[in-house]
Amino acid sequence: MQKIYLAPLQGFTDYIFRNAYNAIFGDIDCYYTPYILFEKGGEIRNSKLKEVLFQNNNTDNFIPQILVANAEETKDLIDILIEEGHSSVNINMGCPYPMVTKKGRGSALLSSPNTIAEILDVACGYDNMKVSVKCRIGFDNREDFGSVIDTFNNYNLDEVIVHPRLATQMYDGRADFDFFKSIYKQIKAPVCYNGDICTPEDYNKLTSEVPEINSVMIGRGILQNPLLVSDIKGKEYSKTERVSMLRKLHDTVYEEYSGMLSGDAHLLSKMYAFWTYFSELFPDNKKLIKAIKKCKRKDNYNAIVFRSFMLLK
Ligand SMILES: Cc1cc2nc3c(=O)[nH]c(=O)nc-3n(C[C@H](O)[C@H](O)[C@H](O)COP(=O)(O)O)c2cc1C
Repeated sequence: MQKIYLAPLQGFTDYIFRNAYNAIFGDIDCYYTPYILFEKGGEIRNSKLKEVLFQNNNTDNFIPQILVANAEETKDLIDILIEEGHSSVNINMGCPYPMVTKKGRGSALLSSPNTIAEILDVACGYDNMKVSVKCRIGFDNREDFGSVIDTFNNYNLDEVIVHPRLATQMYDGRADFDFFKSIYKQIKAPVCYNGDICTPEDYNKLTSEVPEINSVMIGRGILQNPLLVSDIKGKEYSKTERVSMLRKLHDTVYEEYSGMLSGDAHLLSKMYAFWTYFSELFPDNKKLIKAIKKCKRKDNYNAIVFRSFMLLK
């Protein structure tokens, strides 16, 4: 069976979520952190740095992701990771947001194989550092992807994670599985597929059509249904066990944020983010998410959560 990874989702799969998920569901072969980067003044935001510290993660099984524009940023971030004890790094070549791409980072790199080469020269030049990349299939066209693959193939990459959308598509439409199928064998490194895996049927279709891939990375599918990987792996939990695991995930995330954040508003806005995907499992989810968005006080929130879980039983 292919390995299964949790995708990095900035604002969603932070260490609070990853730790809670890992303690309750496990079954993930590797967790990828949302990216760290240098801000304008050359600082790394503390909230981002926290993600990659071993002391904050309840498993060693996680890989930090970096968002870089050039060789210099790559070197400086990898040096920081090495100091923290890391021996693996993932380089983001997929982020489509203009705020990021305008600075030459994320998916902007896909239009510049020369810059990719400069970045990989540095990253792959370390003795004890495994390097993987996570990319889309192009910035605004698929034609450039051939030279991106040729560039990747000049390096000893640990893995290439491909999310088959163009950056200009953002998250519209479906991931282009047919395009992925037509190119993945050209990639020399082990390949990971990422995109729109939301059910065991999606997973089974993928792995039966491209059995040679090394791994599958799942993001929103797990946030929408934290039992997805258990279902893919054929774990048989009773309905009561399933609801209780989901409740435990919610309660653990809630408790952890409560201990960290001051004031109801801050806490409830974090919980609203959690529910944007998690609510999919619940009946009348659109109404539910609206009600959670409106919540200003913890007691109202807790009453809504209590009622929602009752409806799942
Ligand atoms: C809100 C949000 C935040 C994301 N943050 C990151 C990130 O920090 N690094 C990254 O490589 N991809 C990021 N992604 C992309 C996901 O990792 C993943 O590639 C994408 O959601 C497709 O996979 P999925 O369909 O399984 O969710 C983000 C996606 C979303 C929707």
